[in-house]
Amino acid sequence: MKTHLSSRLLKWYRQHGRTLPWRDHPDAYAVWVSEIMLQQTRVETVIPYFEKWMNLFPDVTTLAKASEQDVLNAWEGLGYYSRARNLHQAAKIVASKFNGQLPRDLTELRSLPGIGRYTVGAIASMAFGMDEATLDGNLRRVFARLFDASEFADSPIGEKILWDLAAQNLPKGQAGDYNQALMDLGATICLPKNPRCLLCPLMEICESRKNGTQDLRPVLKAKKTSPQYIHAAAVIIQRGRVLLAQRPADGLLGGMWEFPNGRVNADPAKELTKILNAAYSLKVKKKEALGVIQHAYTHFKVTVHAFRCDCAPIPKNKKLKWVRIIELDDYPMGKVDRGIANKIK
Ligand code: ADE
Repeated sequence: MKTHLSSRLLKWYRQHGRTLPWRDHPDAYAVWVSEIMLQQTRVETVIPYFEKWMNLFPDVTTLAKASEQDVLNAWEGLGYYSRARNLHQAAKIVASKFNGQLPRDLTELRSLPGIGRYTVGAIASMAFGMDEATLDGNLRRVFARLFDASEFADSPIGEKILWDLAAQNLPKGQAGDYNQALMDLGATICLPKNPRCLLCPLMEICESRKNGTQDLRPVLKAKKTSPQYIHAAAVIIQRGRVLLAQRPADGLLGGMWEFPNGRVNADPAKELTKILNAAYSLKVKKKEALGVIQHAYTHFKVTVHAFRCDCAPIPKNKKLKWVRIIELDDYPMGKVDRGIANKIK
């Protein structure tokens, strides 16, 4: 199967592979940046971010010297912001410890923040030409179908089987193209729903296709339903400035800015005053409702009710800052708060 699989795949890739700005880039940094951006994010979304990023931070040293605010601003809208913070931290390490060059030693590479097994395989094969396999969600689906793997693909044993298949079928000297061909196949042909088997270069050697089990592969554990939270947020404006709060450095949207807010039980309008007092010692007086914004994160959904408020003296609170309304775009925010900011601008 090995030669059949890789030679058919590579032939298809030469004809149908996508032209993407980081492909055949001579620079390992560009491959690294693109691979981090592409985690959980579609290629079409990533392309403009990648191009802007490479203009702002063209090399590791420039990124290492940038402020966290500039880094998060450039990432704003891509989501999963810990990826940006880790990339920034890792760039500082590469600049100081590795002379600005990503290490070729796989253990050293893996020790960098945000670089796990997938990213090591991707960088090693695509940027350094090493014979390393990799496995992301797309590749997992492709291999689970090609070999009709019936184990849970997100269990340790299922993962091991799929990583082994990726490695066993790798053509020596062409791992970069092999990995990228599998990614393109997963993104354009071997789709999660309604795979386009008739166009697939591997149709004749696909076990799932033979057994009619494409829709059953990969086998994944049922997802838990995500909880739904209600928040109330205050928009407090005084003399052309608005009060923002900075989120803690770690965790969801770490280091980013938001309108003072908190979770409520049932009635955002009634509970607003109490929760803001508890969270920030802010004494607000609610004026009018500004609107409702919804957003789905990976593990929960949130509905935020924004209210214009007045405020008695602002407490000394290091998390809070008056920001000029015309400078709101300089402050990195998640989707919900950017939505509120755009309403008030
Ligand atoms: N997804 C993750 N890495 C990719 C790459 N290098 N090309 C296309 N899709 C990808």
